[in-house]
Amino acid sequence: MAKVKRIPLVIGNWKMHPATLEAAKKLGKEVVAKALRARGTEACDVGIAVPTLYFDEIGKITKGKPIMLGAQNAAAGAVGAQTGEVSAGMIAERRGAFVIVGHSERRTLGEDNAQVGARASGVLAAKMTPIVCVGEKVRDTDGDYYHLVTEQLEAVFAELGPTAAARVVVAYEPVWAIGTGLTPTAEDVSTMRLSIKKYLHGKYGDSVANKVRVLYGGSVTDENATDFMQNGMIDGFLVGGASLSPATFAAIIKVCTA
Ligand code: 13P
Repeated sequence: MAKVKRIPLVIGNWKMHPATLEAAKKLGKEVVAKALRARGTEACDVGIAVPTLYFDEIGKITKGKPIMLGAQNAAAGAVGAQTGEVSAGMIAERRGAFVIVGHSERRTLGEDNAQVGARASGVLAAKMTPIVCVGEKVRDTDGDYYHLVTEQLEAVFAELGPTAAARVVVAYEPVWAIGTGLTPTAEDVSTMRLSIKKYLHGKYGDSVANKVRVLYGGSVTDENATDFMQNGMIDGFLVGGASLSPATFAAIIKVCTA
C-alpha cells in the first residue's frame, strides 16, 4: 500500500459535561484559545463534541475558527417519531461538522451494529463526518476481538460505496481502556490499526484504505500521546476526560503536530 500523508485529527468528547451552560462557555473559550495556539497553521484538524444543548453557544465561540463542532450521536433520517433523539440533519443545520457514532457508552445502552451503521449513513447523508467508534470489551487470548471489530466495521461499511467510505473516520476505543487509566500498548494499537486497514483494503483497495483516518481513544493523556502517535501509527485521538482540561487537550494536539 502506498504511503500517504494524512492530516492528524484530534477530537475532544466532552460526554455529558460540564453541568451548566455558563461552565460550558468558559470551557469552550479556553479550549478554543489553547487549541488554536497548539495547532499552529493547519498541521492538525481539531474538533469538539459537545452536549447538543450547548451546540449554538459553543458554535458562537468556534465560528470562523478552524475548530470543528460536533455531536456525540445522531439519529438517521431528517424527522420522525423518535422520542429523545436528535437527527443528523438537525445537527448539520446548526453547523455541525461531525458526529460520533457507536460510542461504547451508547452501545452499552443497547445500540447494536445495525443501528450504528444506519446512524453513520445518516451522518454522511447530512454531509458531515461520522467518527465511528469500534472496540472490544475484553481482550481474549485467541484474538477474537479482531473479528469483533471487523464485524463492527462491516456493519458500517457494508452499504457504503468508495466515495462515502473515504469520508469515514474510525476511532479504535477498547472499552476496557475508557475512563480507566488502562491502555493497550502502542504496538497493540498499531496491530489493530493494521487489521482495520486490511479490512478497508480488502473491501475498497488502496485509495480508500489510505484516506480513512484511524484514531485511538481510551485514557489518552498528554503523557501517553507521543508513544501512540509514534509507535501506534495512528492519525490522532478521540479524547474523553483529558479534553475537559484545556491545557492537556492542547498538549495532546501539540503532540500530533510534531
Ligand atoms: P477517556 O479518554 O476518558 O478514557 O474516554 C475516552 C472516550 O470514550 C472518548 O470517546
